[in-house]
This record gives sequence, C-alpha cells and structure tokens, in this order.
Amino acid sequence: MFEITGLRCEYQENPIGIGAARPRISWRLQSGERGVSQTAYEIEIAGDAEFASVIWKSGRTDSDQSVLVELEAFLAESCKRYYYRVRAWNQKGEQSPWSETAFWEMGVLSPEEWSAEWIAAPLALLPVEAEPSPLLRKSFTLAGTVKEARLYATALGLYELELNGRRVGDSYFTPGWTSYNHTLQTQTYDVTELLEAGGNAIGAWLGSGWYKGNLAWSNQRCLYGGQLALMLQLRVVYTDGTEELIVTDDSWSAAVSPIQLSEIYHGETYDARLERKGWSTAAYDEENGEGWQPAVVIEHGKEMLRPQINEPVRKQERLKPIALFTTPKGERVLDFGQNMVGWVQFEVQGSAGTEVTLLHAEVLDQEGNFYTENLRAAKQCIRYVLKGGERETYEPRFTFQGFRYVQLLGFPEKLELEDFTGVVLHSDMEETGHFACSEPLVNQLQHNIKWGLKGNFLDVPTDCPQRDERLGWTGDAQMFIQTAAYLTNVAPFFTKWLRDLESDQGADGSIPFVVPDVLKGQEHSSAAWGDAAVICPWTLYVCYGDKRILEQQYDSMTAWVSYIRQQGENEFLWNTGFHFGDWLGLDAKSGDYVGATDRDFIATAFYAYSVSLVRKAAAILNKSEDEAEYQQLYDQIAAAFREEFVTASGRLAVPTQTAQVLALMFGLLDEAAEKRAILKLSELLKQNDFHLTTGFVGTPYLNHVLSAYGQNEAAYKLLLQQTYPSWLYPVTKGATTIWEHWDGIKEDGSFWSKDMNSFNHYAYGAIGDWMYRTAAGIQTVEEAPGYKRIVIAPQPGEGLTWAEGSMETLYGTVRSKWSKTDNGAFTLDVTIPSNTAAHIRLPDTAAESEVTESGAALREAAGIIAVHAKADGLAIEAGSGSYRFAWQGILTSSSVALV
Ligand code: BGC
Repeated sequence: MFEITGLRCEYQENPIGIGAARPRISWRLQSGERGVSQTAYEIEIAGDAEFASVIWKSGRTDSDQSVLVELEAFLAESCKRYYYRVRAWNQKGEQSPWSETAFWEMGVLSPEEWSAEWIAAPLALLPVEAEPSPLLRKSFTLAGTVKEARLYATALGLYELELNGRRVGDSYFTPGWTSYNHTLQTQTYDVTELLEAGGNAIGAWLGSGWYKGNLAWSNQRCLYGGQLALMLQLRVVYTDGTEELIVTDDSWSAAVSPIQLSEIYHGETYDARLERKGWSTAAYDEENGEGWQPAVVIEHGKEMLRPQINEPVRKQERLKPIALFTTPKGERVLDFGQNMVGWVQFEVQGSAGTEVTLLHAEVLDQEGNFYTENLRAAKQCIRYVLKGGERETYEPRFTFQGFRYVQLLGFPEKLELEDFTGVVLHSDMEETGHFACSEPLVNQLQHNIKWGLKGNFLDVPTDCPQRDERLGWTGDAQMFIQTAAYLTNVAPFFTKWLRDLESDQGADGSIPFVVPDVLKGQEHSSAAWGDAAVICPWTLYVCYGDKRILEQQYDSMTAWVSYIRQQGENEFLWNTGFHFGDWLGLDAKSGDYVGATDRDFIATAFYAYSVSLVRKAAAILNKSEDEAEYQQLYDQIAAAFREEFVTASGRLAVPTQTAQVLALMFGLLDEAAEKRAILKLSELLKQNDFHLTTGFVGTPYLNHVLSAYGQNEAAYKLLLQQTYPSWLYPVTKGATTIWEHWDGIKEDGSFWSKDMNSFNHYAYGAIGDWMYRTAAGIQTVEEAPGYKRIVIAPQPGEGLTWAEGSMETLYGTVRSKWSKTDNGAFTLDVTIPSNTAAHIRLPDTAAESEVTESGAALREAAGIIAVHAKADGLAIEAGSGSYRFAWQGILTSSSVALV
C-alpha cells in the first residue's frame, strides 16, 4: 500500500500569508514497495479542517503529476485559510487513504484592502539625519472574546513588533529587501494567542536597514527614503463572528528608542538606560513615560504592497565560542570556530552607564592579531550601554555581522565563554542536500560551501556578508544557484529575487550589476552577470519543474537577449561595452582583477548560452514562433563565435583554461574543435601541474567540462589538489567558508590585499554542483525536470574510495552512494523516490552477469525496468525504491587517459 504525505503549498508546509492567488500543491507518495507511481489523484479544498464545507474538488484526475499541481479554475481569496487533502491511485489501480489535512492561508492580496495608513515619528522628534530608531505604540481595548486574530504588517525600513510585551513571530529583517519602489513585502502573523481580554497594546521598533541605512560606497544613505514608517492592520475575529480592525493611523504615539544607531554595515548602538519598561503593554502610561508624541501619517503609496514570497529570515543555529584569548597586541578576542553570519547575544553585569563594545572580524593577521582592514568602511560594531544592576542580556535587531572572531572592549575582567552565543541567521530555506566522501578535506570543503550559502542567503543572494558591500551581485548568484539548489530548496528565495531583477531591469533590457539595484547611475550589464536573468529562472525550472517561473520571467529573459543583440555593430557578437570578464582569474596581468580570457569571447559565449536557454524556455511555454526565432539566432551567434574565435584548423584563438571551458560547456564548437579544445585544456592543466587559473566565470564549469569530455581523472586531480591555487588550499589554511580569492591568505600567512578580500564569498563554492552531479552522480533531466526523471551516474575517480550524495526532492529522497575496494569490488546504493524513475549508470562494468542487486540477479530485481550494456558501463532503467548494485570493476575510472 501507499500513503500521501508531505503536503506543500507553494513549496511550503502550512504557510500563512502567501500571495499566489493560484497556489500550487505538491505531495509525496510514501511506500515501502518498489516501482510505485501515480496514475490519478484527487484534491479537496475546504473552509474547515473537518471538510464539512468543501469549496473545491478536482475529482479523480488521471495524471502522474504530484508536484506543483495547479488547481484549475480555483482562485484563492485574500486573507482566507484553506484546508486541503489529497489521495491518489497507483499503477496497480490501488487507492491511497486521504492524506492528513494541511492548510495554507492567504495574505492581503490587493493594495486596496489596506485601510491602514503609513505612520512615522514626527520629524521634529527624529529628523531624517538623526540616527536613533523610533518606537511606535498604541493601546486598545477589545470588546469581546477573541476567536482568532491576524496581524498584517510592513514598513519603510525594518520592523519588529510586540503585542502586550511579547515579540510577534520569529522572523527577522522584515519586511525583507526588495526593489522597494516596485515591491514591498507584507507579512502575516497569527497573533490569536498574544491578545488579552480587555486592554491590549501593540508596539513597533523600526530600523534603518536597507531602506534608509548606509548601502554601497561613498556614504550613500536614504537610497529609498529618509523617514522610517510603519503600516499594519490587526484583524480580530470575535467568537460571535463580528470583526474589528486596529490599524496604523494618527491615534498612535512615537518616541525615541534605546537604539541610538542601527546600520546593516556598521552595527548597533543601544543605550539600555533609555529603555521604557512595559512600553508595549496596556498598563504602560505614556504620560509618565515622557518623550511620546503623536505619530504622524505620511504620504507613501500602497500600490507596491505584496505578500512575502520567500521564507523569512529566522534564527537557525547557536554557536558557542571555542576560546577566549589575548592577541599579541593585547586584544581580548573570542573565537567562534566558524566564520558565521548573524550576531552575538551576550550577558553582562555592571554599573549603569558602563559601555561594552564588540568588534567583529573574519580572520586574524599573520601575527595573530585582530584583523578588520578587509571590512573596508563597514564597522561591524555593537555598542551596549548598561542600565546597571542585574545581569543584562542583549542582542541586536536590525544589523548583522560576518565574523569568526569578536574583540571585546569594556567588558569586566572576569568573563565566561558561556555568556556569549553566536546566533546564525539566514533565510529559512529547507535543507535538502547532503554530501560526504572518503577524503576529510573534501568534506570540509563541502562544509565551507554550505556555510557560504548560510552566510549569503539573508533575504537576497549576496556576494559577501561582512564588508561594505553585501549586495545582490547578479553574477555571483548565477554562478552559485545550481549548487544552492542541491543544498537547500531555493525556489521561493530566487522567485522573490527574480521579481526584483525584472523590476530593476532597464527599459532596454539591461540588467544592473546588483539586484536590488543600489548602484544606479553606474554602468549596466556585464556578460555573465546580466545572464542571471536567464540562467536563474532556467535553473529553477530544471531543479524544481517550476514552469510558472519561466512564464513569469519570460519577458525579462527575452528582453535581456534583445539588449545584447542591440549592442555594437554585429548583432551576433557581443564585443562592446564594459565587462567584468573572468573576474579574479589567476592569469590576470599583475595588479589586475580581470583574468586573461578576452572579454568579448566571454560575452559572446554567454550570449549564445542565454539564447539557447531562452529557446528552450520558448519551447516549454509552447511559443513555437519564438522557439524558431531563437534557434536561428543561436545558430547565427554560434557561427559568428566560430568565425571570430576558432582558427581555420580548429584551434581556439584564446588559449586560456577559461576559454576552452566556456566553448566546450556551451557546446559552441564542432567535433574537431572540441577535440582540440579538450586537449588544450588538458595541456594547460598539465603545464600548471594540475592547478587552475580560472576566475569567477570559468571555475564553475571547469570540472564539468573535464568529466564530460573524458578527463574525469583531471577533474579529481583538481578537486584533490592541496597546493595553491586550488579548492583545498584554503581548507589546509583552516578556512571554514569559501574565500573570494584563491589566495585570500597566502602561503606565508600574509593577505592578498585589503581592498577586496572576503573570506565568505560563495562563488567558488560552485564546485559543489560537480560534487553532487558527478562525484555522487545525482542529476536532473531537462525533459522531465524537478527529478521526475533522475539520472544516477557517479563517475568515481582516483583519490576517493567512496562518495555519497542525497537530496530531498519534491518527490522524496534521492540517494546515491558508491564505494570501491582495493580488489575492484564496486557497490552502488541508490534510492529513488516514488512516482519518479531513474536511469542508472554503473561505471566500469559492461557485463550484466557480473552485477547483483541486493544479492540477487539483476534482471530478477523488482523495480528494474530495463538493462542495457554500454561500452563504458551498464545502463539500468529503474522505478522507485532502494537498490544495492554490486560488481567487480576495473578500478580506474572510465575516462580517457591524458595525452
Ligand atoms: C563583488 C563580487 C562581484 C564583483 C563584480 C565585487 O566587489 O564582491 O563578488 O561579482 O564585485 O566584479
């Protein structure tokens, strides 16, 4: 038998406050049997958990779709909660019981439904240039017994709410960072339990955040506006069915909060002596609280309000410091053992007015002193002024720091490690991937990749989390999205970001360097950065089977390639304008950031690649005219590329590692030129004793190309290389995250440079994709995306005796683990979720008779659909289930030896 489990609406479990009026539903088929697939399903939606009032039902629908199922002719209404359940029929015609009931709840769908007004502290109290944060509050009386209550809120700036002295919800950095003039996210909270009979009070803290605070360089502030403001409405439903609405309006009061300064880059200053005890409770008396003034209603539109799409930022982990020590310079420093992003929560005791300070740094310098020069202008400084008396606990609200080390100033002599906690914060995405192998250094690399993601997925995908940058660099996001999609479910996160990308896209189709665009006025559109407009939605489609993201982004995708087409005189080459090139490539001229690969080579290669993806998107969306047009355009670009960059005898005119990699990865060469390019790449690697020279653009594809073109052993050599430059070099230097530079810390312990040396930059972590896809062998199939069909094709290599990857797909767990012994005995353990099928490649064996499955003959195993012998291994078609294949191999991998 089988069951239906894991119900999700718009990727989330029982979400509240969603904005998709046509939400999509996913479920899993759970069974101990092999080969289970779905032939039909039925969905019911009701207004109550008991299904007494069924609103919509699909009826029995013949379909094998169990992921992101659209509900035909069903339109969800604003603020309503819907309960749903699913049952299904399998390939034997058996029917499952109904699933457990799940629900989703809508947010405020249209701006017209906001009757609240924008309110702010009067400018006389807090002028635009003032640094302290405001508080806003209101007391109110409830007239009856509360059945349920919802709070809908947003802010210009960041907000945190309290109801009757208790924090509302567990989200941080709300309303998140978007292209604020186009989209401002609204959040929904179930506050039924926080309300009290009779007198109540609600209060808000506001912080400058990305809206008003310092962003990018040259002291840029107030990028979106200068006045912090709040808008919320509290909808209370009484047991008699009547409703009451409490909204932000001129009946609220404002005061200055104890937060004297709050900045994303610079940290927070908090004077606990200025706390207003009980300020968000009904018992608080404003008259005696002093400093309260009537809040003012300000003019600001509501047309940009939309319910939040992505998971909010939440506290994820708590780390304890592993040491407290004194540096040679005499600094008192805590070591958290991990380069992390979030903040430190601490306890301290002392007299009123004592000031304690925490400074944050990623690394120590050569001498072991606290090093902050690579933070550039970002102060990363937390100041706390004690109110005195009892032990006090503090953590910031509207800022985050990227750090491993914390310097303590002004603290009492005697300190306990126990008094400090590193709180890790990031977008609350579901963790999906796991990778491990026989080489501990590679496992540390995997750990570092994961922490690169944790540190840089704080509501937007950022380049780094510590210096005065922390921006949504499009190129970095594009390079890492595929790896990120193995590690976590990034669909809601990137769906939100791509909407901002489209909002900030120029009328001519150009794409800003960063999204949200806070570098306005600077040049637009570098190749490999702007291509995020196409590569990101396409990756979401392939990884999650999400067709809607292609529908939503299609205009943005086509506008981007049209923009490129308009550049320069030859519409099939991109050889004009500014480009970052192979950023940080090691074949750069001395003192230069840009690698040696010609920028127009890179630009044209990416142009071709993006057009090829737009063509595929057009095909999926049934736009056949577009499909033909983009096919033709692609052929013309590829021809122009060859004309310009391939010599008559088939050699690439650009002799760098990155050039060979891009031309092969994007399939731009004919067979003869392909052979020469892979030979050239092998040669270049050999000359360099298997060290890479690639930068941001070439690195993500380097190992893919080697493994795909018969040089798998070279890919393993690069992966396992420990000397500089390599992925493992930073690991040998004690890295706990991915560095921006291959030589962030040099062999002698000195630093690369202070102006651009982040130790938490995920871009080079893109090797994670190869680790899952090739070392563990878990692959998507474009024709059946979202792991509806799966390829399991591990390519073992010298240096590892086993590798394992697992992945929570929307269908369930996919797992692949291979191991080999000295005498050539291979084992491959595979798990395929129900309602999917897999194509499994067993490397190094062509003889079916050699292979057993769970100890029995291969053909006799349940779930095996077909077996084909291939020159380089056995190909097996299998249905869902767990399998163990064992065979005798020839030890070395199947790849062609290097010439
Ligand atoms: C960022 C990069 C980004 C680059 C553009 C840097 O300052 O940190 O990661 O992609 O600028 O070249």
